[in-house]
Amino acid sequence: MIHPVILCGGIGSRLWPRSRAAKPKPFLPLVGSSSLFEATLERCSNTHLFAPPCIVTGAAHLEHVEAQLGGREGATIIVEPEGKNTAPAIALAALRMNADAVMLVCPSDHHIDDEVAFRAAAESAAALADQDWLVAFGIEATKPETGYGYIKQAEPLGSGFQIANFVEKPDLATAQSFLDSGGYSWNGGIFALRAGAFLDELTRFRPEMMADLRAAVEAGSLQGRSFYPAPEPFSRIKGESIDYAVMEGTDRAAMVPVNMGWSDIGNWEALRDARARDADGNSVTGKAELVDCRNVLVESNGPRVSAIGLEDIIIIVDGDEVLVTSSAGAQKTGTLEGAKSQ
Ligand code: GDD
Ligand code: MG
Repeated sequence: MIHPVILCGGIGSRLWPRSRAAKPKPFLPLVGSSSLFEATLERCSNTHLFAPPCIVTGAAHLEHVEAQLGGREGATIIVEPEGKNTAPAIALAALRMNADAVMLVCPSDHHIDDEVAFRAAAESAAALADQDWLVAFGIEATKPETGYGYIKQAEPLGSGFQIANFVEKPDLATAQSFLDSGGYSWNGGIFALRAGAFLDELTRFRPEMMADLRAAVEAGSLQGRSFYPAPEPFSRIKGESIDYAVMEGTDRAAMVPVNMGWSDIGNWEALRDARARDADGNSVTGKAELVDCRNVLVESNGPRVSAIGLEDIIIIVDGDEVLVTSSAGAQKTGTLEGAKSQ
């Protein structure tokens, strides 16, 4: 059995004004009718392969998690006193599990087209994790994206490869050099880890973080299906992602390559590309009239949007906020005053 660990952290401010503090990205129906969180739960709900999920989230998201998780049998929730990034979030789940349990860590805000390919990769990765490899999902790198981790594969290992080099969020020149040299994949942010093996590596690289995590779990409390780590030791932790804290340094890193129509829906441009589009490449949600437009994304939950002669433009209307950006500018949405002051 594989134990899904679903991470629900940030707000997704690059999808402002739809994604806001009050209703963050994982809980919105961005592609199709389910939210990204619901789709993640669904993907990990084949009962022959997966144990019930463990959701790691913050108090701010708990209401949404509870509502969308519903009464799923055996599901558990860990409520972080505050967000400390992914290394502590994953470690909390690992500390609450049997050391021999193989976890599949899944971000709650990704879109995956091909569930069959996802499950096959999960099984291959779990087999390697069971032998104490820390296994990433490798996604074909198609552009020098600086928001991702890059992994260089080494010798074959089971149905995957050992990782020769893991570099988190390189600068543009480095990312381009990885693409040019070949042999690099993006890190998909999905990891198969034996709980005990991950905790051993985290103890090796971040012993202080581990000590505070253990203390927070020991002094934590269980309320129904939700576990609350104790806030005081937890607040001392210096937040860090699994990518920097463990994956860059470990010599137990492995990867399984997977082609599953993956997108982390990081911004409006990525969302446009994940959605069904018409013959002109336009995608419209809500009331809109587009004339002579190409590759335009319009989403309005209020007024009608009318546009003529636009190309590669994104227009989002959400209540009292309107965003208009070029596709290229979509990366910067999170830096807007409106997004920061939400
Ligand atoms: N519970 C919890 N607590 N979840 C968190 C926290 C936290 O403090 N911080 C982040 N998360 C969740 C996010 O909600 C998301 O689902 C997932 O963990 C990954 O965090 P991101 O902040 O989105 O990471 P990233 O996108 O910058 O980078 C990671 O993902 C990329 C692929 O999308 C890295 O693993 C990269 O290497 C990778 O390429
Ligand atoms: Mg992300």
